[in-house]
Amino acid sequence: MNPASDSLVARPEIKKVLRRVLDKVVPREEEREFIKNIAERVRKEIEDSLAEIPVPFSVEIHGSFAHDTWLSGDRDIDIFILLREYKPKSFLEDLLKIIENRLPYEFERRYAEHPYLHAYIDGLEVDIVPGYSIKNKILSAVDRTPRHTRFLKQYLSEELCNEIRLLKAFLKGIDAYGAEIRTQGLSGYACELLIIHYKSFLRTITEIAQKPRIFIDFTNTWEEEEAIKTFRRRIIIIDPTDTERNVTANLSTQTFLKIKLASKLFLERPSTTYFFPEEKNLSEKILRKSIRERSIILIQLFIKEGVSPDTYWGQAKRILRKIRQFLKRMREVEVYNYEITETRGRIMLFLELNTKELSRYKKVLGPPIWASSKNILDFIIKHYDEIGPIISIGSRIFFIEKRSANERSIAEILKNFLDTIKIEPSFTSISVHDNPEEIVKIILEEDVSGKLYQFVTGKPPWLPEI
Ligand code: CTP
Ligand code: MN
Repeated sequence: MNPASDSLVARPEIKKVLRRVLDKVVPREEEREFIKNIAERVRKEIEDSLAEIPVPFSVEIHGSFAHDTWLSGDRDIDIFILLREYKPKSFLEDLLKIIENRLPYEFERRYAEHPYLHAYIDGLEVDIVPGYSIKNKILSAVDRTPRHTRFLKQYLSEELCNEIRLLKAFLKGIDAYGAEIRTQGLSGYACELLIIHYKSFLRTITEIAQKPRIFIDFTNTWEEEEAIKTFRRRIIIIDPTDTERNVTANLSTQTFLKIKLASKLFLERPSTTYFFPEEKNLSEKILRKSIRERSIILIQLFIKEGVSPDTYWGQAKRILRKIRQFLKRMREVEVYNYEITETRGRIMLFLELNTKELSRYKKVLGPPIWASSKNILDFIIKHYDEIGPIISIGSRIFFIEKRSANERSIAEILKNFLDTIKIEPSFTSISVHDNPEEIVKIILEEDVSGKLYQFVTGKPPWLPEI
């Protein structure tokens, strides 16, 4: 029997790895106390600062801190201001203004479905999110959050919480944790529900390793086929607090496949590297040699200030898709691999192609031999100085013609193509580079060679030595 499939009786080497991971990700009492005190203090300060608003409300801590599923060292606190009566969205903004004015912290405004505040307080990342808590009504995306906490509290035990920590740390290590557009992976809530369903980290990744798709319906209201047609995701988890919502709505197939690959490999070659990938650096020499020898193009998208990450990541991914489709249509060109990464004020797209230049000669197809004699003659006259006329196997007349240097350069062709696509609202401009020295210079200036380890070597940083 394949040992990897027998997950419920963990092999000793897997057990050993998981014990080491747990030792790092389960917070100790001291850290819990430290965070709890700050969180409760800030919660109270927010509550007091809003004492005079003319609506009943509560200020509550939710998210992984409330669920006790947070990872040690990950200091993020989610505080929700929940109105008990409806007020327009502009009122939520007013609440944020009051908090900004009255509390002594440096706040940053961020935007999801609606604005919220972010502050760095005593070493903690604090999100302050306004929403509604009104019976049977979901008025904003955050309104489900208290229901999530209520549901989870019924099912979570200390043991399950630690299994959730393993799953979160694993996904974090392979960069598949988080529902935001950059990652398109699994949210903390999705991890929590997977573990409530499968009961353990190992069982969860064994299922993911073996099954083409996963369907979990806590509400028992969906037929699997129907849910697949409706939600079209490789993992579907119907939200126990909302039968119409799939918790993994943001999971991309690409990310699912990555989780599947990592799960398969982990079960065969367990290691802590999946959870804590080493920072790997490329020497300047290898970087330079690879970029010189291989057909690599860099496209930079310069981000407009004030645009939210979900917006510019979404647009960058759409632009990347358009570029890949465009190159595919050129038939001579194959995109072997790509990398998309963010640094100061820009998104960098790296493409590795089979070539940076189109062939010296191209075929220019004319009319089929069945066309009118006049059409055929016109075509021949027009191209007479080139090589032809030749009859193709598909019975068309064609010529062989030389391409100019500009016509051969894929970077030039891409520049022209990118001039025709929309870059607003996320980007102010685009640049395309195919000169290896120029590309290396930008990589070094922007200090992203560490992020390119996987692109250059093909090896994910979490992969253990095999
Ligand atoms: N939430 C959600 N859907 C999302 C993001 C967040 O429903 N796509 C809700 C969940 O109820 C979650 C809470 O907002 O519990 C807090 O979100 P977040 O901080 O992103 O996740 P956590 O569960 O707190 O996980 P982490 O440990 O990563 O902070
Ligand atoms: Mn959180």
